[in-house]
Amino acid sequence: MERMTIIGLGNMGGALVRGLKNPKSKLQLPLDVFDVDAARVDSLVDGQKVFGLKSLSEVKLDHNTLVLCVKPQDLSGIVQTLAGKLGPECLVISILAGKKTGTIGRELQFQGPIIRAMPNIAAVIGEAATAMCANEHCEGAHKHKAEEIFRGVGEAFWTKESLMDAVTGLSGSGPAYIYMVIEALTDGGVKMGMPRDLAFKLSTQTVLGAAGLVKHTGLHPAILKDQVTTPAGTTISALHELEERGLRSMFVNAVEKATLRSMELGKDS
Ligand SMILES: NC(=O)c1ccc[n+]([C@@H]2O[C@H](COP(=O)([O-])OP(=O)(O)OC[C@H]3O[C@@H](n4cnc5c(N)ncnc54)[C@H](OP(=O)(O)O)[C@@H]3O)[C@@H](O)[C@H]2O)c1
Repeated sequence: MERMTIIGLGNMGGALVRGLKNPKSKLQLPLDVFDVDAARVDSLVDGQKVFGLKSLSEVKLDHNTLVLCVKPQDLSGIVQTLAGKLGPECLVISILAGKKTGTIGRELQFQGPIIRAMPNIAAVIGEAATAMCANEHCEGAHKHKAEEIFRGVGEAFWTKESLMDAVTGLSGSGPAYIYMVIEALTDGGVKMGMPRDLAFKLSTQTVLGAAGLVKHTGLHPAILKDQVTTPAGTTISALHELEERGLRSMFVNAVEKATLRSMELGKDS
């Protein structure tokens, strides 16, 4: 019988298991979970849909979708046990930053379907932005499985592997950029005399509301911006300052720098 196995139950693996446990998840395969920390396994097992493994040697070796959620440097621990043993009816899905599908296949000695995905930390609250790419052995059914997994923790999109470093630079690292924005807006409020707690709540909700409105209306952000920019009003004064200081270029450059760093880190992997 077909199964799924999630290996590594930290931030990301834990979030994926919770997404799959959600009754709304369309993917209803029995789910095995493994982590070197047995307490993490125990916290997710329910004995009905999610079953704990005591070691990697218990991983089902065929008719299984393996989702690798360990840190890139811990892949070797998995390779030691599973290399050369996965049957042709397996699907491997990796979220390891920087590890190419070719590398995963080579290290696991697996010539079958491999999907590489890059979610982000918002998976923890079901709001991840995930980009995925598939190797040449993937068919529609494999891609469909990956969509069901990552759409359980947010939104997921297909792209080509050559863009995965750019994905890392934009949505993988992106939450950190927005945390800085929230922090800075909060400081702005504090500078103008607000209690920090109030400034923090206002700035957080402002970022959430602005993103929500873009998504909800489907309008270009420039149109929404124009709608709130009264002639000779407060907003245009602030926008002028942001333009003069190069805010847009700073974000464009930030994504570029993170992409280049991802390429550098991913060399030979
Ligand atoms: N966090 C993000 O924002 C983010 C975004 C996109 C992609 N990713 C990718 O997602 C992966 C996981 O990130 P994360 O933040 O979830 O990391 P994490 O919280 O450290 O989780 C990894 C888990 O795997 C366990 N582990 C280590 N070696 C193992 C092995 N051989 N077998 C089974 N479990 C093992 C770790 O245990 P110990 O802690 O005891 O080592 C830990 O519980 C990384 O490859 C990362 O590149 C992360």
